[in-house]
Amino acid sequence: MTLDRTFHILLVSDDRALESEVGAALATLPGVRAVTVHASTLREAVETARTRQPDVVIFQMDSDIEKVRTLTRDMAETAPGARVIAAYRRDAFPDPEAESGLIIQALRAQVLDFLRMPISAQELRQLLERLFRTPHRTSGAAGLVTTFFSHKGGVGKSTLAVNTACLLARRHPDRVLLVDASLQLGVCAPMLDLEPDYTVRDAAGELDRLDATLLQRLTARHPSGLHLLAAPSTLEAATEIDDRALARILALARRSYDHVVVDTFPLLDAVVLGALDLSDTAVIVTSPAVPVVTSTAHLLETLVGVGIDRNRLALVLNQSHPTYMGQAGPADVAARTGFDVEAVVAFDRRVPASQSTGQPTVLATRGRSFRRGIARIADFVEARRPVAMREAPTADVESEREPEVQLP
Ligand SMILES: Nc1ncnc2c1ncn2[C@@H]1O[C@H](COP(=O)(O)OP(=O)(O)OP(=O)(O)O)[C@@H](O)[C@H]1O
Ligand SMILES: [Mg+2]
Repeated sequence: MTLDRTFHILLVSDDRALESEVGAALATLPGVRAVTVHASTLREAVETARTRQPDVVIFQMDSDIEKVRTLTRDMAETAPGARVIAAYRRDAFPDPEAESGLIIQALRAQVLDFLRMPISAQELRQLLERLFRTPHRTSGAAGLVTTFFSHKGGVGKSTLAVNTACLLARRHPDRVLLVDASLQLGVCAPMLDLEPDYTVRDAAGELDRLDATLLQRLTARHPSGLHLLAAPSTLEAATEIDDRALARILALARRSYDHVVVDTFPLLDAVVLGALDLSDTAVIVTSPAVPVVTSTAHLLETLVGVGIDRNRLALVLNQSHPTYMGQAGPADVAARTGFDVEAVVAFDRRVPASQSTGQPTVLATRGRSFRRGIARIADFVEARRPVAMREAPTADVESEREPEVQLP
């Protein structure tokens, strides 16, 4: 594609290597016009950004994440239209884990993309194409990422992720993406009666080219208005997707959708931690069985221990059945975990049946406790929404909203 415009690029690094590498790469790109300016300190960068309002800021990243956070925050204030890119040398990191850990943290700090140094002309061109073909969110705010997780199998992560995503999609048609990151055992496609042509693996294989248009092409559309990026169809393919690839996919997805909902595999590995780390809301699902509640308490403690902000964790009690003896109720769950229960989703015999037919329960039935629980999760997730994004189109479901569920 042609890049028929002039780019204003602010380069931030304390030596001139970045400037000469970007300059050399641009010189070999016919048709790309760019005006570059260099700042060697953060202060200088802020002053330059304020006066020049660059399209792109490329800064040289070392292993200090605090510096990254300060820079992205300052740029968001002084040049809100600028896309912030981190350039780094691999040898700045002791090992590949340190590199991918920092990349995930940088994505969380709103770095949009990365360039490896020495910078190649081809990578720089691909980066500019990705950035400027991708429709930039006009509200300036990123979409919200919500990940459903439990390290216990069968508690209802997929059920809640699929149903919540469908309800959000009814409220915001074509603005919600469900990513099936339950990589080794994806069930979202059959739960939605979809047979996708592409999967997360295709997105991971196209990371260098991936933009909003390509991402959308890799999804399957459900009649509710939900887009699905399905899990890989084989175990071999699942093992090819690492934390860094998933984090890059989620970071791009939140730039082009209002909501990104993520289903996960019941294992707290690097892929899941990366997704949780990027999430605005991590919905932690528990069932009412006391041993599950106890292990959920340990999970919550662990997540806080690894640095996930408590305020981003939302505990949900699924398959609640008030008349079953020996089950923990919401007050019990709160007492045992130290977290409020944000939503209670009732046990409903129609749920397993609806999964066999590929008809999400939330769309099929009305006025049921199950649906009220899902609406409560969706409302909770939406409450995180920055005010500027509240103007998204709303579907008829708004008028069907249930009153808040009364916790028994
Ligand atoms: N609220 C509910 N009422 C009745 N059945 C439910 C409910 N939620 C989930 N189930 C059933 O429980 C089973 C497990 O649900 P689901 O597959 O969503 O769990 P999961 O946590 O995603 O499992 P895995 O860990 O294997 O990914 C399914 O048969 C599902 O139909
Ligand atoms: Mg599942």
